[in-house]
Amino acid sequence: MPIDIVIGAQWGDEGKGRIVDLLSAATAMVARFNGGDNAGHTVTIGKDTYKLHLIPSGIIHDHTQAFLGTGMVINPESLLKEMDMLRRAGVIVDSGRLHISHAAHLITPGLKALDAAQEAALKEGRIGTTGRGIGPAYTAKASRSGLRMEDMLDKQALQHKLNAHIAQVNERLTALGAPALDAGAIAADFDRYAAELTPYITDTAAMISDGLEARQRLLAEGAQGTLLDIDCGTYPFVTSSTCTAAGVFSGLGIGLQPVEQVIGIVKAFQTRVGGGPFPTELSGELAGRLRGTGENPWDEFGTTTGRPRRVGWLDGVLLRYAVRANGLNALALTKLDILSGLPTLRLCIAYRLDGQVYARPPFGISRLAECEPVYEDFAGWEMDVQNIRRFDALPGAARTYLQRIEEIGGAPIRWVSVGPEREQVIETGH
Ligand code: GDP
Ligand code: IMO
Ligand code: MG
Repeated sequence: MPIDIVIGAQWGDEGKGRIVDLLSAATAMVARFNGGDNAGHTVTIGKDTYKLHLIPSGIIHDHTQAFLGTGMVINPESLLKEMDMLRRAGVIVDSGRLHISHAAHLITPGLKALDAAQEAALKEGRIGTTGRGIGPAYTAKASRSGLRMEDMLDKQALQHKLNAHIAQVNERLTALGAPALDAGAIAADFDRYAAELTPYITDTAAMISDGLEARQRLLAEGAQGTLLDIDCGTYPFVTSSTCTAAGVFSGLGIGLQPVEQVIGIVKAFQTRVGGGPFPTELSGELAGRLRGTGENPWDEFGTTTGRPRRVGWLDGVLLRYAVRANGLNALALTKLDILSGLPTLRLCIAYRLDGQVYARPPFGISRLAECEPVYEDFAGWEMDVQNIRRFDALPGAARTYLQRIEEIGGAPIRWVSVGPEREQVIETGH
């Protein structure tokens, strides 16, 4: 079946949006299967920059059908804002091409307030969530008390469910010392959201299955990254959904079937927002150099929250782990341009723990905080690579670095991105 999957191979923000935009040119159906508006995917086309949080990045190509899958948690207020933003930018957003799963869960102001109150209560061990209500929404889903998109289709029932939901949330907010919310105001807002979103709510699983049967190509756009996956990630410093490739099928509600490309997006270095272990993390001047100052749109500050991202050297051990956890058969390496001008580059090829050297993370990745990276050093290059479009035109030192990443990661690098723009990409032929 013609399915391709794009997955973040690190802790998110690898540049998934820009690669999805690239691949969507030859794709009929684009779909998000996990997460919510904790995601922030950037697509840059000429002077225009789009920041997408809920809608698949492939919607910017006007031939695509865009799906918000069953496995998502959707804040209707954010979704309507995003639909508006796209329309103002000239993208057609109507029920002829945007489809929302009836089974996706709703994020309410109550769930957002709980996210904030729970984080505040954690103090030292804070996850550093995006504050979008993601954890509480998946908690409600798993405990079978969540609200779903389909609840928006029955106005009266929705009002009852929202009232009961906010009453329940208020009890928990009060216990956490946070102010209670006004159920009436929330119910009135949702009445409006329901009216606006009703035409888009449908059986996306059936539509995607029909499309696949008709041999239409599907591109599944992962949100977050492998190391933030609820099962495979650095628990508890993770998000609350399945971000790995296996989540595509449950998250779209479709049957298991062969996939052509499982593409891991890898930044040329490593970043993370929020708390949790990070063996190759850097501080000081070098960290500042990799992060940037915030002047450039691609500098390492969160697309969703604006928080400065933690930065470090590329962790080859975790890349190999991501290749295995997802079955990645191709990689797209982004932000190679940022490394130009650094005299030396480092790549983590193993960990040292209790006097032993490990080529794969010991005990899954549960003891990552104790692991000390073992580095291989590489000569850097001076040349600005942003205008290069052929692999063999890259500086020799850059090609050596990329080749070693392929060896250590265990998957071929099929694309190298050298800038945020649509055209700034090299097909390696690997
Ligand atoms: P996502 O969440 O994985 O889609 O990534 P984000 O959009 O949160 O963050 C990636 C940032 O890097 C965005 O600002 C992109 O425009 C930018 N970007 C992507 N690829 C490249 C690249 O090759 N070079 C540079 N300089 N910026 C890039
Ligand atoms: P994209 O799709 C980077 C991180 C948060 C926090 C943890 C849990 O743009 O790559 P949550 O709000 O999900 O409960 O927060 O996960 N996080 C992300 N980090 N990129 C993202 O999305 C993220 N989505 C969540 O910073 O550490
Ligand atoms: Mg992002």
